[in-house]
Amino acid sequence: MASLKELRNQIFIGTFIHSKKLDELEYLHDTAICVDKTGKIIAIEPQCDQKKAEMSLYPTLGWSAADVAVTIAKDGQFFFPGFIDTHVHAPQYPNVGVFGKSTLLDWLNTYTFPMEASLSDLSKARKVYTRCIRRTLAHGTTTAAYYATIHVPATNLLADLCLSMGQRAFVGRVCMDRMGPDYYLDETADEALAASRASIEHIRGIDPGFALVSPILTPRFAPACSEGALAGLGRLQRETGLPVQTHISENRSEVGLVRELFPRSRHYAAVYDEHGLLGPRTILAHAVHLGDDEADLIAARGAKVAHCPCSNSALTSGEARVRWLLDKGIAVGLGTDMSGGYSPSVLEAARLATLVSNHLAMGGERRGGEDASAPGEGERAKLSFEEVLYLATRGGAEVVGLQDRIGGFRVGMEWDAQLVSLGALGDDVAEDDMQDYGNMDVFGWENWDERVAKWVYTGDDRNTTMVWVRGRLVHERK
Ligand code: GUN
Ligand code: FE
Repeated sequence: MASLKELRNQIFIGTFIHSKKLDELEYLHDTAICVDKTGKIIAIEPQCDQKKAEMSLYPTLGWSAADVAVTIAKDGQFFFPGFIDTHVHAPQYPNVGVFGKSTLLDWLNTYTFPMEASLSDLSKARKVYTRCIRRTLAHGTTTAAYYATIHVPATNLLADLCLSMGQRAFVGRVCMDRMGPDYYLDETADEALAASRASIEHIRGIDPGFALVSPILTPRFAPACSEGALAGLGRLQRETGLPVQTHISENRSEVGLVRELFPRSRHYAAVYDEHGLLGPRTILAHAVHLGDDEADLIAARGAKVAHCPCSNSALTSGEARVRWLLDKGIAVGLGTDMSGGYSPSVLEAARLATLVSNHLAMGGERRGGEDASAPGEGERAKLSFEEVLYLATRGGAEVVGLQDRIGGFRVGMEWDAQLVSLGALGDDVAEDDMQDYGNMDVFGWENWDERVAKWVYTGDDRNTTMVWVRGRLVHERK
């Protein structure tokens, strides 16, 4: 693996695929992309192979061939932007798959709080976080918006590890000064704010320009934060301009709880708004049971949504109406919400986003509850594979505020990318190859739309061959 310090100039040659717009992919075949030593894309050249690059591209860049590291995508491989997981809980990684038939509030008490509390043990935290980062990188997650725990040292360790292992990340110390169990709670609002400040300072110290790792203000969710904690975080946001992440309207009991705890607020989104926590840098996870004026407020404030279809299905929270959110002009990305979601894979989240949208199309009108006849359901609710790939890359980039730096291939953007291998192609496939590429089986006659659709529906980390963040190779499948 390349070291963090010394990057070489690099050229990538082959097929590149990225989202052009929500429902359209762009295919760049026989193309070369040049990436400089800082990890920035400095040239994109169509109809270019290695020879032509050496003859006509390198001189214009002042490069000499001896200095350039070359990566060529073979037949059946393509480069794709790295995935952006806009909502993921690193300390819950050991709990993936362990949720039984629980729903949000009992899931938190039964599985989540005990696991998170146990990560006050730094050696355990190191083990869990190292594996979480390694695993998500292997799935092509080049950027993650992480919730850590309430512990400052373990939160700082997560940031340290993201930096050293090369994953772009937002790392948030979780703020919760009520509703948690005695053994896992910030004691007062003031103490919570001081702890969050301490973690912000640490991250600022290890990555002063937030080039790779950034702090993020993280009120767990309204029910777990006192008015004092929410207001303090709102002030801290105004003071620092930092991003904010929290949960909203995930589960009906939770929404009821917010109504009880904040009787003067007209709805859940208003609680965050009234405390200065609903702005263009706010990432709201779930957004399943929002009302119309609530979504309008979110749109008006420019806040973003992390759609977590795996978690919303696993914990029977409900189906977020992504089309309806998009129609309102709200930016939407995908979140694994591990371990509410059982999978660390954004590709799995993308796949499930299509299925959940199909469920809305099939049964939206028949569902109980206040939004039973909400607009935006029916056939139009369905998300295509192109659309969910957009959410996984460009949409996610917008949600985390990095749309000018990541999520696609353009000169000036950074090289956060994955090399995807489609699996068996052509007539003379060795038997072993089918195993190497997991569930995917491509015969070679499929067009590119069909190949990418097969990747979305049958692919997994066995198809993720190499992964780069800011030009640095951070994962290679052996
Ligand atoms: N709401 C408050 N905390 C959590 C959490 O850890 N996961 C999910 N999915 N929802 C939450
Ligand atoms: Fe969550």
